[in-house]
Amino acid sequence: MKEGGCRHEPDDIPRPDTSSMTTMHTYCCLGLLLGVSLIAVLVAVILMKDTTVELTVLRQVHVLMSHGERTPSEYELSILGTPPPDHVFIPYGAGALTNEGKMLTYEMGALLRRRYNDFLGPYYEADRALVISSDTKLSKMTALLISAGLWPPSPIQTWNDTLAWQPVAYTYPRTNDDYLLYEDNCPRYNQEKQRLLKAFTDEGLLLPYKDFFHKIAQLTGTNFSTPQEAFHLNNLFLIQEDIKVPNPKWAKHVKKKLMDVARLEFTMMFHNILLRKLSGGALLQQIIREAISMTVEPTTPMVIVRIGTPVSVAALLSACVAPPPRLPDPGVALLFELHERIPSKADDKIHSALPDGQKYTTGTTIPPSQN
Ligand SMILES: *[C@@H]1O[C@H](CO)[C@@H](O)[C@H](O)[C@H]1NC(C)=O
Ligand SMILES: *[C@@H]1O[C@H](CO)[C@@H](O)[C@H](O)[C@H]1NC(C)=O
Repeated sequence: MKEGGCRHEPDDIPRPDTSSMTTMHTYCCLGLLLGVSLIAVLVAVILMKDTTVELTVLRQVHVLMSHGERTPSEYELSILGTPPPDHVFIPYGAGALTNEGKMLTYEMGALLRRRYNDFLGPYYEADRALVISSDTKLSKMTALLISAGLWPPSPIQTWNDTLAWQPVAYTYPRTNDDYLLYEDNCPRYNQEKQRLLKAFTDEGLLLPYKDFFHKIAQLTGTNFSTPQEAFHLNNLFLIQEDIKVPNPKWAKHVKKKLMDVARLEFTMMFHNILLRKLSGGALLQQIIREAISMTVEPTTPMVIVRIGTPVSVAALLSACVAPPPRLPDPGVALLFELHERIPSKADDKIHSALPDGQKYTTGTTIPPSQN
């Protein structure tokens, strides 16, 4: 079984429109997970549901994409005690994109190009596009791939006929300063998570797993004892299955329980409003800030692409809709579009004809700092 959320289209934010729209700009949360294989279907869903589509002009696009399929990281492998020999990850190494992962990431870029071709125009303009990676090799390689798909050179930008590629700039904050994509960097987030773990433990929620933790600690010769380690070990097994590297023999005896504990950990990550604010909320607020800046300063980048992890995609979804039922697959993307509403005579009529709950476009005008 594959852990993943891309088959689950999140509920479409049918929140009542409480905040009145004071500007002509409508922030449109297309709270939507795109998996490359599901493109056609999901794009159709957006267009159908966005009832204001004829009345708006697209002004800005935000993309949060998770890196694609990868090999297990050094950290995940360390949980095994005795990691598999290096050669099983040749030629990639640990924590690196596989060829499959590269292909799907590139295709996600190409999908975005098809969807936003008219909006973006034919040329890559470095001032109008912002690609933000995190400070990992995995993320930087993903940034290069999505950019290659999104900005193939038009004839006039082609600099060598044999290469359908042009350089695209990206930027990244230092890992320790990266609060938008790594919630673990936030001390308050970790504190709240610890508090929650203690509360769960005091309630006896972990009691059924006591022997189980002990068993894995013995099997691996490590101090395996937290749901977080279970989450990473479960992730490791799923990744190894995906890339066809065999799991240790004992894995099949612990898999089911491991998945239960991993799920418990995943629930804890975004369990309450504070955790959602401190993880995805921070990024959502930044996205809204960039959208607002677009409304006052038209030279703001028109497309902002961020490269995160499946966890950061889940965090952003938690902040603006609800946590997904499970960890999204590698390579999913979440899109936000800023639309400007064009005033028209029909406008008032159409809006009063829609019950509040159907005003799909006002979903994220509620800032994450409100409960
Ligand atoms: C384009 O690249 C190829 C191979 O990388 C090279 O052989 C060729 O000389 C290049 N063409 C030009 C016009 O620079
Ligand atoms: C397990 O925990 C003990 C005590 O906290 C520590 O001394 C030991 O180094 C740990 N072992 C591993 C493999 O991390």
